[in-house]
Amino acid sequence: MPDDQIQPRAPVKVPLVKKPLGVLQTLRTARRNVLEIIPDIATKQPIVSGKTALVRWHMVMDPGALRRILKDNLANYPKSDVTKNLLRPAIGDSLFIAEGAHWRWQRRAAAPVFSHRNIAALAPIMSASAAAVCARLEGRAQADLFEEMVAATFEVISNVTFSGSGDMAGDEVHRAIDRFIDESGRVSLFDIIGVPTWVPRPARLFGGNPVADMKRVADAAIEKRRKTGAKPVPDLLDLLLEGMDPETKRQMNSAELRDNLLTFIVAGHETTALTLSWALYLCAFDQSVQEKLHGEVSEVLGGRIAGPEDIGKLPYTEQVIREALRLYPPASFISRTAQGPDELCGREIRKKDTVMLPIYALHRNALLWPEPDAFRPERFAKGAKHDRFAWLPFGDGPRVCIGAHFAMVEAQIILASLISRYHFGPIEGKTPVPEMVITLRPKGGVWLKLTPRG
Ligand code: HEM
Repeated sequence: MPDDQIQPRAPVKVPLVKKPLGVLQTLRTARRNVLEIIPDIATKQPIVSGKTALVRWHMVMDPGALRRILKDNLANYPKSDVTKNLLRPAIGDSLFIAEGAHWRWQRRAAAPVFSHRNIAALAPIMSASAAAVCARLEGRAQADLFEEMVAATFEVISNVTFSGSGDMAGDEVHRAIDRFIDESGRVSLFDIIGVPTWVPRPARLFGGNPVADMKRVADAAIEKRRKTGAKPVPDLLDLLLEGMDPETKRQMNSAELRDNLLTFIVAGHETTALTLSWALYLCAFDQSVQEKLHGEVSEVLGGRIAGPEDIGKLPYTEQVIREALRLYPPASFISRTAQGPDELCGREIRKKDTVMLPIYALHRNALLWPEPDAFRPERFAKGAKHDRFAWLPFGDGPRVCIGAHFAMVEAQIILASLISRYHFGPIEGKTPVPEMVITLRPKGGVWLKLTPRG
């Protein structure tokens, strides 16, 4: 029986390929939507292996093997060269890309910046952005919530990295980053099939200008801050300026600061916007979830905008966000290159094999999740169990997303505030289509009907 008949009410998904594709067809399909090159069996098996253009590859969906890649045998599986080459022109050898000792000291220096205490101190900036988006939606009958969420999360990240206040030409950097992501997104297929890194990538050909713009604006902001000193409530720039590797006492120089701050912006804003957009789409798709969510936020917030004091009091809001991250993981595909021989799920891994972590397929794998395509926030209710390595929207192990708590707090504040003020309904003919361009984006936006709550 086709999936649709078992689950007539499943939210949108990507049609994964049911038969093997040749090299050319893989390239063509990947150009359209990288997710579609994931074979359908990746949602039914623990591991799928193959060979495309002489490159051996494995897609791993088994929690035990994922634990080995991300944690127990981490040194054997650094990020793939192509991921690094793609991002390095924009974000240098920052935390996201660096390996070994150069990664370790940066991670240690940056870790305190993302402590729960610092994020609680930055949360009022998230509330201000939630209030602003609620105000922008006033009087509108419908809106593209993806566009709104990108604006809201960019406001947050630019205010917590460079504290707005004219330091950062927000629009200019925003445009530069958008262009960078758009252009580099088109080549992520090279990553998948592991074309040698010397093959010119469109990102390298187009990349110059937006990247240079981004760096110029960030450098100016850093120099200015060095002169003016820290803000009364320190932002990420202040915290990172003070940040020090507790072991080596090393601090970041201006170029390292800039590369890491740009990393936070690139890694942090669209991913969080996507989480929120897909969560809102899902709430419009399933009205019973939305009503339950509205019940929770009305009780806790009583109509006001959410703030740091509400985190921990909105368990259902958190469940909805976790389930949105399961169904539409913004980083839906992670890739590594094996450095030496190993064994995963009983299969031989050779040096240079491409090891893919198709998070989208992992999150919809039938061996791990009952009715995997159904939207059920209760999967994440207190007491409900799932394997830790079956849900990896933020990765895991030492390279786990440093901004995961930041993103979860931001998503809760903005989602709770929006659901408290508005009712969201679907619009016929405007269903978003999941499409992977580095991140898992809703093609056509997330258009929803809005009705103010009394
Ligand atoms: C919902 C939002 C987010 C998602 C889904 C997400 C996802 C991820 C994933 C999957 C990784 C691991 C990649 C890998 O192992 O190959 C990662 C790493 C990272 N993320 Fe996030 N992220 C989010 C938000 C943020 C935010 C808000 C920031 C910063 C403000 C951030 C900064 C980083 C950095 C610096 C790394 C590299 C960490 C390291 O390698 O030590 N992310 N993220």
